[in-house]
Amino acid sequence: MDTPDIAGDIAHELYTPEQIADRLAEIAAEIDSDYADTEPLLVGVLNGAVMVMADLARALKSHCQMDWMAVSSYGSGTQSSGVVRFLKDLTTDISGRDVLVVEDIIDTGLTLSYLVSNLKSRGPNSLEIMTMFRKPEALQNSVEVKYVGFDIPNEFVVGYGLDYDGRYRNYRGLSTLDPKVYS
Ligand code: XMP
Ligand code: MG
Repeated sequence: MDTPDIAGDIAHELYTPEQIADRLAEIAAEIDSDYADTEPLLVGVLNGAVMVMADLARALKSHCQMDWMAVSSYGSGTQSSGVVRFLKDLTTDISGRDVLVVEDIIDTGLTLSYLVSNLKSRGPNSLEIMTMFRKPEALQNSVEVKYVGFDIPNEFVVGYGLDYDGRYRNYRGLSTLDPKVYS
């Protein structure tokens, strides 16, 4: 499959599109089996989760529904503070539903833990988390993540929905950027 021609900006590809698709297929099979008796509501966190949501939903063999939220975390610079502002809320009433939050990446996990406690207060029947990528710091956080695509090193990465300055979301693999991009 063709990828955008950003090869000149890529420093190191951590995962190829094929590796991501293969891992996602494994997770989809787990989810199919875990949710065999119910129709999960997949909740994607905009914007980063767009790609993983689209691919995960289509890798499932069972019915599912999808809804979206957009949040912005207040923080100083690049560190997120865990204080979250809702930019777009769900349109679905999740009370009594089996909710699966779909994330692109968990870094500190602060944004996610705020989100999870907010969603839990709405009375879902169950609430689990799936993330495609997870950084080491997330392991120190109390939020339990049921499905993890890949644990990655603590480096800034782009592709597969993740951006730098709005770019590279449409790059199909996961990569670090050449330092020249930042300068
Ligand atoms: P926390 O720290 O609250 O934040 O888990 C998670 C959010 O931070 C962004 N993030 C990244 N975005 N490349 C990106 O493009 C990265 O390496 C990266 N690390 C964290 C992302 O928006 C995620 O939802
Ligand atoms: Mg995100």
